[in-house]
Amino acid sequence: MKFFADTAEIADIKELAATGLLDGVTTNPSLIMKSGRDFIEVTREICGIVDGPVSAEVVALDHAGMMAEAETLRKIADNVCIKVPMTLDGLKTCKALTSDGTMVNVTLCFSGNQALLAAKAGATFVSPFVGRHDDNGFDGMDLIRDIRLIYDNYDYRTEILVASVRHVVHVLEAARIGAEVMTAPPAVIKALVKHVLTDKGIEGFMADWAKTGQTI
Ligand code: G3P
Repeated sequence: MKFFADTAEIADIKELAATGLLDGVTTNPSLIMKSGRDFIEVTREICGIVDGPVSAEVVALDHAGMMAEAETLRKIADNVCIKVPMTLDGLKTCKALTSDGTMVNVTLCFSGNQALLAAKAGATFVSPFVGRHDDNGFDGMDLIRDIRLIYDNYDYRTEILVASVRHVVHVLEAARIGAEVMTAPPAVIKALVKHVLTDKGIEGFMADWAKTGQTI
């Protein structure tokens, strides 16, 4: 499973990239706003830190506008992945860009039918938002199961990029279902390593080691 960091915070991206476990980054207009950075500048900096796909989202709502923005964004670096919204114009843009060899992430996916459309449009990634699905009384993981089933039925190559991940159980469930990618806030990625018995085990081993008086 690929791990993407859902952030535009450079320090967090550098810290995760240094572990060797980070496969890409996703951003959106809200994360750019939160970072306080210039969109193009921060995207360029992120693309220089990670080798994998870095999603940068268009803000135009019409096809011509999206294509123009995508043109600017894809010039930033070879690993830029253009993020478009789940609309007919977004799908039209997805089709045009992927036919041209550009990576595209179709975002704001909340149904199996929407995911089917993204695959038909040749999307590299589809981003179902599990947390926001849960927030609204649906089961985000049922959505991932639906998309997995649909994509496997037709052998679609679009990768399921589980987004709006809020906690470690979302990651576990997404991995059980077989989603190719998950994107999560850095704190959630770092929390994956934590287990109370691991901490307790280290504490016990350290205490006993100290009693041996040895060094390595
Ligand atoms: O990548 C989109 C995703 O980050 C949205 O997450 O927590 O704002 O629903 P959230």
